[in-house]
Amino acid sequence: MTGPIPVVIDCDPGVDDAIALLLAFASPELDLRAVLTVAGNVDLPLVTENACKVRELAGRAEVPVFAGCPGPLIGPRMKGKYSGAGGLGGTLLPAPARGAEAAHAVDRLIALAREAAGEGRGLTLCTLGPLTNVALALRHSPDIASGIARIVMMGGAFGVGGNRSPTSEFNVLADPHAAEIVFGAGVPIVMAPLDLTFQALATPRRVAALRAMGGRITATAAELITFYDRNDPARYGEPGGPLHDPTVIGWVLRPDLFNSRPAHVGVELAGTRSYGQTVGDFFALTGRPPNAEVLARLDAEGFFALLWQRLAAL
Ligand code: RIB
Ligand code: CA
Repeated sequence: MTGPIPVVIDCDPGVDDAIALLLAFASPELDLRAVLTVAGNVDLPLVTENACKVRELAGRAEVPVFAGCPGPLIGPRMKGKYSGAGGLGGTLLPAPARGAEAAHAVDRLIALAREAAGEGRGLTLCTLGPLTNVALALRHSPDIASGIARIVMMGGAFGVGGNRSPTSEFNVLADPHAAEIVFGAGVPIVMAPLDLTFQALATPRRVAALRAMGGRITATAAELITFYDRNDPARYGEPGGPLHDPTVIGWVLRPDLFNSRPAHVGVELAGTRSYGQTVGDFFALTGRPPNAEVLARLDAEGFFALLWQRLAAL
């Protein structure tokens, strides 16, 4: 089946979520049916307002936004560290003319997945934050798995260690029970762990190239990215911050820029030191069949060429 890809994005904007949303809004290959929000980088009201602000910046007010869950299934809420108090760094975007819809994100996701199942073409569900909304939808209505062609998620970490604990990546650690539900739901998963997203480094050279491209929103995008710059050359190998979430949209648009390895992935829920760790069986040691394609290598130059070109065209 051809034509624009039916897509739903679940996110917690967040600076890198904002860049991912802009890439999606700028890509006619995608039939973006809804943006769902979940508490993550900042609290639910703010991530929802930020999603509406970014939608406005992109000029895509026709795409509905739905607010979802205010925190994890179990345990306290863990806030992000790298998006500033308002969630969009130091960038002040105008108040959105249109806010979120009244329906809950979980209810809307269930309806959209059932609609897609009826069309015979499942959703591509892109998750950029904690998986609370997705887990609840799958638990509430397991039938919706037939309406989700794949979940493309930014989350987890394997060989590079965690970013919010020594073992665990934020999106999974913020709601590890939700992540475990999603990995066990039987929906095809494409996973962009930190091992992949650390390769998407917005170096000063790359950000300067974005600024030089002109375009209506490139200066704003460069400002967002510059604030987000999690400078840690010792960890990433060179200056600049990793653009985690845009790699999810990048894979949907250009999977040829990536390679992947199949693995069975589960989430550590019992550990104290390793709580929220994604444990990948890449060598069939457990007898469990693979439940995810784990993205491994990124053609970073190709990815940034795509991302900058789409941002400049918005
Ligand atoms: O660990 C990185 C992830 O956590 C990104 O999605 C970032 O936006 C935050 O949600
Ligand atoms: Ca995010």
